[in-house]
Amino acid sequence: MTIKMAVLTDLHASAQAVGDRRGDWAEVLLLRAVHRINRWIKPDVTLVLGDLINDTQVDVARYGGMRETLELLDSPVIILPGNHDVAPDSFYKYMPGGDVTEDIAGCRFVSFLDEQTPGFNARRSVEDIARLRDARQGWNGPIVALQHVPLIPPDSGEIPYSYDNAEEVVAAMKHAGVNLTISGHYHEGWDLFERDGIWYLVAPGLCESPFTFLEVLLDGSDVRVNRHDLRLPEQYRLVDRHIHTQLAYCSENITVERTAELAELFGLAGFALAEHSDQLYCAQDTWNKKQYLYDGFDAVNPQESRVEQYFSLAKNAGIPRQSIGLEAESTYKEPLLVRDQDRARCGFLIGAVHQLRELKKQQTPSVERAIDDFLSQTQQVINAGVDILAHPFRIFRRRGLERPESIYEPVVKMLRDASVAAELNFHTNDPPIEFVRLCLAAGVKLAFGSDAHNMYEVGEFWPQIQLLRQAGYNGDFSDILWQGPSDR
Ligand SMILES: [Fe+2]
Ligand SMILES: [Fe+2]
Ligand SMILES: [Fe+2]
Repeated sequence: MTIKMAVLTDLHASAQAVGDRRGDWAEVLLLRAVHRINRWIKPDVTLVLGDLINDTQVDVARYGGMRETLELLDSPVIILPGNHDVAPDSFYKYMPGGDVTEDIAGCRFVSFLDEQTPGFNARRSVEDIARLRDARQGWNGPIVALQHVPLIPPDSGEIPYSYDNAEEVVAAMKHAGVNLTISGHYHEGWDLFERDGIWYLVAPGLCESPFTFLEVLLDGSDVRVNRHDLRLPEQYRLVDRHIHTQLAYCSENITVERTAELAELFGLAGFALAEHSDQLYCAQDTWNKKQYLYDGFDAVNPQESRVEQYFSLAKNAGIPRQSIGLEAESTYKEPLLVRDQDRARCGFLIGAVHQLRELKKQQTPSVERAIDDFLSQTQQVINAGVDILAHPFRIFRRRGLERPESIYEPVVKMLRDASVAAELNFHTNDPPIEFVRLCLAAGVKLAFGSDAHNMYEVGEFWPQIQLLRQAGYNGDFSDILWQGPSDR
């Protein structure tokens, strides 16, 4: 039986960056990690190994937000304080937990909140060493020991921090038959190694680039580690082609100004805005009614437009014209809800089919008619001269309908004939791998779009990269990704 753990540590939340520590983004880093863990890693337990905040004098108020984010985790979570946190008795007023022994998924987790000693080292108390020795009592399964400060045998590595009484602690672990011990604190981390039957691991700090957390798999006496960097590998030169702004009614916390900073933090080579055209043309009430879907601009009062606001927002943030686009809505009147003068100001257009007449019916819609409707709306959008087709087939998933595989090929053909790129977008969506394979085979360009409505989503392309690997693509991303408005 394999026990899967997600390990994250050393967030150092703070108002400002402190050297390489980007605690100023700790909340966003944590949220991004939590979403990736929930959706893709699905561990049995998540371990948070301390230093959640940077400075107990000024950052204590940050615990509230961190706790809210940690509570989003689907898995059970074990949270330990570090030397930058408040003392343990106060810490567990801010954070859930505090049990020193927890049995989860057939594994015993023993946690230690050791006293700090000079030089940012630690010492384990006599009582806690006794508790560690006794950890095996009444337990046949694997045991994982957790602490903030790196715990490795004294002569096994050049880590600048250690336990004053490491030898005694290691002896107690041997006595108890501990399988694995995991620490934090040393932000560079230390690779997994085994010594006398015990595996040792020091997880890197989430607050320092490339913003890493670990996936740890414990299977009997075997341990494996997968690294997860929140920052994209530089050499991929990835561009996020689909980011929303504070003008979206469905925006959660995204702002144009912070997007630029985040793009840099997460290693994007560039980013582009693509605000919903219908939301910009319509006041919220008008937008909610969705009458524009049938009547196009006849159902839209020009006085309500916020398009000017959008373009000046982008311009004021220093975003170049070629990176300011629109996610243009298909309608049954105009092929796209975009006015000519606004299209002329856009660097690119993403065409989206968000609504289908057939799927809006109250009674059970006919899947056959929905497919016809989808294909004709998609063709219309593609013919209207867009650069990218937004999240192909998402509409079926949203309505809880099986995606009809038979329509992948016709859509690929439409895209190829018109040189329009297909978007790989995981926002409430799972692009079908078969469709991706067909696009690759037909030479249809792909575009990575996070569809970010929340800052943590900006440039979160881990799923896209995995999908392309699963689809068998091992080449250079620049050969298959849409390269911008000149790439037509
Ligand atoms: Fe730390
Ligand atoms: Fe620390
Ligand atoms: Fe979008």
